[in-house]
Amino acid sequence: MTLVDGFGRSFRYLRLSVTDACDYRCRYCLPGGFHKEEAEPPLTLDEIRRLVAGFAALGFWKIRLTGGEPTVRGDLVDIVAACARAPGVRRVALSTNGARLAALAPALAAAGLSAVNVSVDSLDPARFRDVTGRDDLARVLDGVERALTLGLSVKLNTVLMKGVNDGELGAFTEFARARALDVRFIELMPTADNADFFTARHEKTAALAERLREDGWREAPRGEGDGPARRFIKEGWAGSIGVIAPYAKDFCASCNRLRVTSRGRLRLCLFSEGEHSLRDLLSDDGRAAGLRERVTSLLGLKEVSHYLPEGRLGDTRHFAAIGG
Ligand code: 5AD
Ligand code: SF4
Repeated sequence: MTLVDGFGRSFRYLRLSVTDACDYRCRYCLPGGFHKEEAEPPLTLDEIRRLVAGFAALGFWKIRLTGGEPTVRGDLVDIVAACARAPGVRRVALSTNGARLAALAPALAAAGLSAVNVSVDSLDPARFRDVTGRDDLARVLDGVERALTLGLSVKLNTVLMKGVNDGELGAFTEFARARALDVRFIELMPTADNADFFTARHEKTAALAERLREDGWREAPRGEGDGPARRFIKEGWAGSIGVIAPYAKDFCASCNRLRVTSRGRLRLCLFSEGEHSLRDLLSDDGRAAGLRERVTSLLGLKEVSHYLPEGRLGDTRHFAAIGG
């Protein structure tokens, strides 16, 4: 079973936000810190278990847990275990700011986590603090090493910001020389909350791909099931460099994911307007067929593009609400 939309795209990858709370205040996301905006509680562990089972039955085999910051939930290890146990799920990944990763990684790995994406916007401690509001670079990198030691697949997410970290390409490629991880440069994306920051700091990642090529990096062939990131490799390097360019032509053609918010609402795109609640179908085990039918039918509303170059922002104030 594979869900295919009207534009020929196959969907097998679910990004599930488990909370919109976060203890960081990244300048492009939550510059004023997290403030509770919704009274409705996030999905419970049981609701998550049913949701993931439903998507797995539709052919989804990769689940990424996102936030906000997923590790602020006390039951994250149980959530990972529930996802890993769902029949058909082959890969459970986590996106995190990394602050608690060193402490949590062993339990997460034991629960069945296969991969972790850690936000690291700078390898300079002062700049890291300036971007995130936390003087945490050393402990985040400690978590990265811990995850590597445990055999988890590791990616660093680095949001490229003009005049902030655009001079760090060399430092990040050096970081990937002896470590088998993927450093991914993500182009800054506009949200309703970050308009001024976006205008001041947006820089296309396309130029970065050019510089990598000049430095002897080669683009790795795309694997089936790969998302919109392009990956570069180089002789002698254990790690790789990824580039995410949301404004690039064809970016949406390789879209392979659906998103569900922490309150159980399906989002068809980061920049779409409107969310579709699935929560009424998660209250007991008897509604699995209804869940599959609703997701299948909602996929018909997914559009061919995010229309970002045309200036569409969608109705999300910041990515902490939907997990980036
Ligand atoms: N543009 C690009 N990336 C963003 N993220 C959060 N907000 C934005 C934005 N406006 C990234 C974070 C994190 C991932 C989950 O999403 O850096 O790595
Ligand atoms: Fe938190 Fe991630 Fe937003 Fe940073 S980007 S404030 S770590 S949710």
